Amino acid sequence: MAAKLNLAVLISGRGSNMQALIEACKADDFPARVALVLSNRPDAGGLQIAQDAGIQTASVDHKAYDSKAAFEGALQDVLSSHEIDLICLAGFMRLLSADFIGRWPDQIINIHPSLLPAYKGLDTHARAIADGAVEAGCTVHVVIPEMDAGPVILQKKVPVLAGDTPDALAARVLAQEHAAYPEAVRAIGDGRIRLVDGSVKILEE
Ligand code: GAR
Repeated sequence: MAAKLNLAVLISGRGSNMQALIEACKADDFPARVALVLSNRPDAGGLQIAQDAGIQTASVDHKAYDSKAAFEGALQDVLSSHEIDLICLAGFMRLLSADFIGRWPDQIINIHPSLLPAYKGLDTHARAIADGAVEAGCTVHVVIPEMDAGPVILQKKVPVLAGDTPDALAARVLAQEHAAYPEAVRAIGDGRIRLVDGSVKILEE
């Protein structure tokens, strides 16, 4: 197998998607390893999970910087001190600037809890239920400067059930997120999906 992709997983909170990636990386044939978990919140629960798994962690507290550029400069310093191939946003709740994204061409992906382009932004499940949507799901996509708008890598769907609450739907979608993110990273690492010039090329099924 070719060298494994070195992942940086960026989080802001509990880190269950991060944990799913860490678990997936335990398989010998998984084509990636988590080299770094980085949080913009020093109190993010996911940091402890990563440390317990023996993974290097860092936090860059956005509140400690007086501009987005300064915050992102600090992020960049940490990331560039590791040999990172792919940045996986996993519940990372800061919007990254075009400048920052431009430093990592075709190397930043995100997971979002809706079937994009539907329900960009926050409160995706409540909005889907309020609209009477019959289907919900999650999307792994390439990150571009416009929020939740980059090319789709893969999606997984779930039904919206009668009487669903946002929490119930979120839990159903989250289970799919935990499958989708490792699946997307595996496909990229295996070379079945390539991110090229801001687009997603599927080389074989
Ligand atoms: C996940 O549902 C993820 O899709 C969502 O935040 C949650 C993080 O959970 N991300 C976004 O809404 C980004 N726009 P986690 O910390 O347990 O992975």
